[in-house]
Amino acid sequence: MRNFSLADKFFIEFDEAINTLSGKVNHRAETPGKDFQDDKLDQKAREESGRLLRVNHCGEICAQALYRGQRLSSKNEKNREFMEEAASEETKHLGWCEKRLSELNTKPSILNPFFYATSFFAGLVVGATTDKYSLGFTAETERQVMVHLSKHISSLPSEDKKSKAILEQMRLDEESHKDSAIERGGAELPRGTRILMALLSKVMTKTTYWV
Ligand SMILES: [Fe+2]
Ligand SMILES: [Fe+2]
Repeated sequence: MRNFSLADKFFIEFDEAINTLSGKVNHRAETPGKDFQDDKLDQKAREESGRLLRVNHCGEICAQALYRGQRLSSKNEKNREFMEEAASEETKHLGWCEKRLSELNTKPSILNPFFYATSFFAGLVVGATTDKYSLGFTAETERQVMVHLSKHISSLPSEDKKSKAILEQMRLDEESHKDSAIERGGAELPRGTRILMALLSKVMTKTTYWV
């Protein structure tokens, strides 16, 4: 992106945001749990799973935006490559959540554009700081996502084995993203920052559960 003008970068990012929000992402990776059937899922269980998956889908939208924002403002080429690879790996999760949402007949959150924009700007700000802070932010985000996924895995209706398999695989992948960010020098963030991040993600999870 180094040789692009500011206007070029803006349009590239705008285009990427539209693609992410409109579901034009890579769906090619095989979905975990594809062999489980949904025939034991009644309407109530379907609705509850749909609401939980809508939250996770928005989480993956935010992951795209965070990584892209960080990549854009990072001054370190190696870190930019890492953010690019991570964002591309996260498209797999986004595709799984999108597919599952439509199987459960649930619409994505109407708040996705708002959370994409907020996360993108947070990523821009964090990426412009030091490498160890930016990578530390990635590691902390992934750690908080893992905690959240564990809660959702236990809250899913027990008959919904398909969604459970997806969230379990996502938790494994997020763990490896967290470990890579730490290996690359991500530092532990100050307690205040960690609390603020947890509060903001609570706003996202509580609102997208309903709309
Ligand atoms: Fe993810
Ligand atoms: Fe991740």
